[in-house]
Amino acid sequence: MIVRPPQTPEEFERYRDLRWKILRAPHNQPRITEEDDAGNNDFPIMVCKVDGIPIGVGRAHFITEDEAQIRSISVEPECEGKGIGTIVLKELEKIVTAKGAKRIIIHARNNAIEFYEKNGYHSVEESYTLFEVIPHTLMEKKI
Ligand SMILES: CC(C)(COP(=O)(O)OP(=O)(O)OC[C@H]1O[C@@H](n2cnc3c(N)ncnc32)[C@H](O)[C@@H]1OP(=O)(O)O)[C@@H](O)C(=O)NCCC(=O)NCCS
Repeated sequence: MIVRPPQTPEEFERYRDLRWKILRAPHNQPRITEEDDAGNNDFPIMVCKVDGIPIGVGRAHFITEDEAQIRSISVEPECEGKGIGTIVLKELEKIVTAKGAKRIIIHARNNAIEFYEKNGYHSVEESYTLFEVIPHTLMEKKI
């Protein structure tokens, strides 16, 4: 597997497309644009079997100097259950840890809580409900 940030405009387009397809399209939400990302404080990652074509994506940003948030992890449905989500998560953890994160938080969709628990996160409290139908739970891992 190739694990790296998207670099070209085409790669960013594919990265955002996968995120949109998995997380937003099923809820009739509009496409994600560049403005939805966190600018310089945004660390996007894609996992590719064929270089440049993501089958898993995710991103991280810093909330404070030592606290980072990981978000939007999305895996192509036909590639689920093969460790791709874990590769995305571990790579994002590696990036933010190298940059000084001491605590990582995730507002996890409740359907993904077990995935994050298997990767060392635990639930802190109930979080928001997205699009009025997707409950989230705040999870954390202390480094
Ligand atoms: C959640 C998601 C990212 C997991 O990615 P994945 O590549 O399928 O996960 P992995 O194969 O790395 O799974 C790692 C472990 O978590 C478990 N797991 C993964 N998704 C799970 C789920 N939804 N419920 C329960 N367990 C899950 C796997 O069974 C595996 O367990 P094992 O180590 O005992 O075999 C992926 O299913 C996905 O994109 N879901 C839709 C979008 C989404 O909800 N994203 C989360 C946003 S917060």
